[in-house]
Amino acid sequence: MEKDYKELRKKFCELYGGSEEELRIFSGPGRVNLIGEHIDYCGGFVFPAALSLDSTVIARANKDNTLRMAATDLPVKVEVRLDNLISGKTLSWGNYQAGVAYMLQNAGYKLVGVDMLFHDTVPLGSGLSSSAAIELAAAVALVTLGNEAHGINKPVDLVEMAVLSQKTENEFCGVNCGIMDQFASAMGKKDHAILLDCSTLKYEYLPLKLEGYKIVLGNTRKKRSLGESKYNERVAECAEGLEILKKYLPEKKNLCSITVEEFERYKSRIQNEVIRKRATHVIYENDRVLKAVEALRKNDIPELGRLLVEANASIRDLYQVTGKELDVMTAEAMKVEGVLGARMTGAGFGGCTVNIVPEDMLGRFMEQVGKNYREQTGIVPQFHVSAIGDGAREIKPEL
Ligand code: GLA
Repeated sequence: MEKDYKELRKKFCELYGGSEEELRIFSGPGRVNLIGEHIDYCGGFVFPAALSLDSTVIARANKDNTLRMAATDLPVKVEVRLDNLISGKTLSWGNYQAGVAYMLQNAGYKLVGVDMLFHDTVPLGSGLSSSAAIELAAAVALVTLGNEAHGINKPVDLVEMAVLSQKTENEFCGVNCGIMDQFASAMGKKDHAILLDCSTLKYEYLPLKLEGYKIVLGNTRKKRSLGESKYNERVAECAEGLEILKKYLPEKKNLCSITVEEFERYKSRIQNEVIRKRATHVIYENDRVLKAVEALRKNDIPELGRLLVEANASIRDLYQVTGKELDVMTAEAMKVEGVLGARMTGAGFGGCTVNIVPEDMLGRFMEQVGKNYREQTGIVPQFHVSAIGDGAREIKPEL
């Protein structure tokens, strides 16, 4: 279903009763990461942008101290009481929302019961952060309505919403993810990418103007689930690499604070080849992000594309989180005339690619990559020409 707010409001009233007047609409976007993969949890630089694909929630405060949740693509409603949010861990769905509420409450936010209807346009499990989108939409809705119900008049602190949403993933859902997705969803800005230093949360917006080119997302439609152990395994491998290097560089607090030169001096001390490969990816990827940002500032799109290709080789060969579908899609993308760069985006193990494609080759790109990908994998892919949108917020559509 497309995003049709009128339709969603009507559906809300069918589900929960009451009139449309008090309904509020909140949005949390998905994100694409241009470069800087699997280094946010190592204190690195990342370069994501929020998408116009989002999780929308229609919401209304209730007097029952209960979060009630419905979704346009799910048959069952779920609910959890505000005085027992921890039990939200075992809901059949809605765990992210319950987790966010739990973290907000623990951080001192005063919540109110809310009836909610979720509608997602971020394809689930596609590497575009559908979970961060849900978390941020829920966080902004819960804090806005909670504050209003308690007569608290202050703006929603979006950076804190990102931090608490990451905490939800880590402590409520068991995924040791970094801050990138939640930050991008919270702080996105239309037509801009965000250069984020994950060790300090300092950030800068850069206009994402690629004259003559478009950013195309290629969905392999090979589903991945972040909960799978592989993600946490990579996080642990990086921690192990850091422990070894700290013997020689004791002042370093995270892998990304080690320079390329320092790493080259000490990398042979990491005897386990797998750990050395992971650390090599992280150190060089961090360096590449800054080079990519410089290329974008100089409007050197071919250099940006070259760095994307280099990053993809690194995440494929050294970090080993791609897999057949992503590899076929990126290889086929680079065969299309004029394409400057292609790489996987997000956690990997399936999901999406990000591609820099000449504007006049968009049709050809989708046709050729689509056909060759389907022939080699048996899966029909999807493509989106990505629109870079704003971060999480309340939506006030003209009705
Ligand atoms: C997932 C995680 C992020 C980040 C990426 C890989 O999207 O949620 O924190 O680690 O994978 O860059």
